[in-house]
Amino acid sequence: MKEILDAILSSDSTSADFANVKLPESYRAVTLHKDEEQMFAGLASRDKDPRRSLHLDDVPLPELGPGEALVAVMASAVNYNTVWSSIFEPVSTFGFLERYGRLSPLTKRHDLPYHVLGSDLAGVVLRTGAGVNAWKPGDEVVAHCLSVELESSDGHNDTMMDPEQRIWGFETNFGGLAQLALVKTNQLMPKPAHLTWEEAASPGLVNSTAYRQLVSRNGAGMKQGDNVLIWGASGGLGSYATQYALAGGATPVCVVSSPEKADICRAMGAEAIIDRSAEGYKFWKDEQNQDPREWKRFGGRIRELTGGEDVDIVFEHPGRETFGASVYVTRKGGTIVTCASTSGYMHQYDNRYLWMSLKRIVGSHFANYREAWEANRLVAKGKIHPTLSKVYTLEQTGQASLDVHQNRHQGKVGVLCLAPEEGLGVRDAELRAEHLPAINRFRDI
Ligand SMILES: NC(=O)c1ccc[n+]([C@@H]2O[C@H](COP(=O)([O-])OP(=O)(O)OC[C@H]3O[C@@H](n4cnc5c(N)ncnc54)[C@H](OP(=O)(O)O)[C@@H]3O)[C@@H](O)[C@H]2O)c1
Repeated sequence: MKEILDAILSSDSTSADFANVKLPESYRAVTLHKDEEQMFAGLASRDKDPRRSLHLDDVPLPELGPGEALVAVMASAVNYNTVWSSIFEPVSTFGFLERYGRLSPLTKRHDLPYHVLGSDLAGVVLRTGAGVNAWKPGDEVVAHCLSVELESSDGHNDTMMDPEQRIWGFETNFGGLAQLALVKTNQLMPKPAHLTWEEAASPGLVNSTAYRQLVSRNGAGMKQGDNVLIWGASGGLGSYATQYALAGGATPVCVVSSPEKADICRAMGAEAIIDRSAEGYKFWKDEQNQDPREWKRFGGRIRELTGGEDVDIVFEHPGRETFGASVYVTRKGGTIVTCASTSGYMHQYDNRYLWMSLKRIVGSHFANYREAWEANRLVAKGKIHPTLSKVYTLEQTGQASLDVHQNRHQGKVGVLCLAPEEGLGVRDAELRAEHLPAINRFRDI
């Protein structure tokens, strides 16, 4: 591994140097163990501690297949899917690996008694498989997490529609929270040159998801002047949705749960901010019944902030706890676009407010290659910025995941993999200097 790292850290390594670097037989990776699937049985979600289920193991190097790349991972990031995997909710990810393994001899490689997690990376290509022309050893890359087979016609308008669509490092093995990772080369994108490894690794999954969900015509298709209600506006997804709303001429109405989170939204440029904790919204009276008066109070607060207007789009992901309110506060003809259900997936809302006011609920999930590419391009141009707040080592991934599980973080939480320290990997110092305050916005708190 030292030879690989030396080649990356040296300023004069060539593609041939990377192609000739000796590959180790094993590498260090953050794993889940299949024989521990039941370890949290009977516990409430909040009591399931990722530090107990996430291990740092030496695992064998997988064989490289056609259309694939082996990447030296300098940095990765914790996503909420790392939390879901680590607490085995809503289902154990080993079921995904078993199902994928039944597809072909090549996918069988993924069905193992351990699962290497991680759906983001920034690093350097070491090897490419047969049939790969667009990428070569030595390329500095980030990887998006859409894994598709594309053998069916269904995915050829929009790759998210492929029947064999999976999220790499969640529904497939050999993810990015490791020293090495295996990806399909149609996951690769150029690493933004002005960012460090850990900054470059942090936007990927959430940035692409927010782009499709809010900006793309496959999602809400936001336009100039729209009012956009953004739940968790300083969190992983929300910190990008807020930037997209501001950059696209819309008005974000940011919902957060603390004054510190409100401050970070203000620092991004948002003005309309609701602190849901301070204002004490209780959308549910009890387990079964919601309180429409609270929806109304929330809608009234939005109108105060927008000069009397309702929201055109709700950027939804908390799910059960907020969905009734989200449907209620959307303007006539508006869109509720949802990509998740963190607080519960059995939603309840008053359908009269949906059909009588001709609103639409749109489901959105990750992003296709083109959308991920466009989202990454905006980061590379310094128009959208990473929202990295804290960086951990690979050994500390359990703690990093616990922080996200307990909602104690801001923006994104990064993980150093091969990178020996923070701050490495910047190739365009001039562009960086131009945007440094924005790049560091989430770190200064
Ligand atoms: N489908 C996809 O492709 C996709 C992609 C990315 C993420 N996701 C999912 O989306 C969800 C959010 O991901 P993320 O990365 O943004 O997570 P995150 O960094 O934890 O941010 C979520 C934010 O939502 C807010 N929130 C949490 N529970 C809430 C509740 N009950 N009511 C209101 N607000 C609540 C919190 O902000 P405040 O406390 O400040 O309000 C939190 O910071 C997760 O379930 C994740 O798995 C799906």
